[in-house]
Amino acid sequence: MLDVGCGTGAVARRIAPLVGPLGRVVGLDISPAMLAVACQAAERDGVTIEWQVGRSESLPFPDGGFDLVVSQQGLQFAVDKPAAVAEMRRALAPGGRVAVCLAGTRSPSDLRRGARCGAARAPCTGDADAVLVRRN
Ligand SMILES: C[S@@+](CC[C@H](N)C(=O)[O-])C[C@H]1O[C@@H](n2cnc3c(N)ncnc32)[C@H](O)[C@@H]1O
Repeated sequence: MLDVGCGTGAVARRIAPLVGPLGRVVGLDISPAMLAVACQAAERDGVTIEWQVGRSESLPFPDGGFDLVVSQQGLQFAVDKPAAVAEMRRALAPGGRVAVCLAGTRSPSDLRRGARCGAARAPCTGDADAVLVRRN
């Protein structure tokens, strides 16, 4: 599982206990300072997570490595949102899912447009605040 724009790792730390012994959880954020806090919090929580500095618009991972990519309150900070969504999809394994959560989206249609653009042929459902993309 990959958490994009993970900040202090709130989502990654919730999911980490659920992935099982063979699972892998990675938190990516542009801010090393955020990741330092995330790392401390994960130690406190007793969960194992890999922390990676990077930008959502150019994820430093090979194609198809994750069954789940999530981003909570992170996508709105991407300078190029369609590129960020496309990167999330690129990082997905076949059958994987992207879940994006945004509160107070100024323009839901922009988000849906970005998801369609990035998802390219993947089924996409969305409403004002959430987009789910599944890779076939
Ligand atoms: C509002 S916080 C959300 C953090 C976390 N996902 C949560 O729900 O608590 C947004 C995070 O996105 C990160 N961020 C901003 N621009 C980014 C980018 N282009 N690529 C990756 N992370 C970015 C920020 O450093 C910040 O940690």
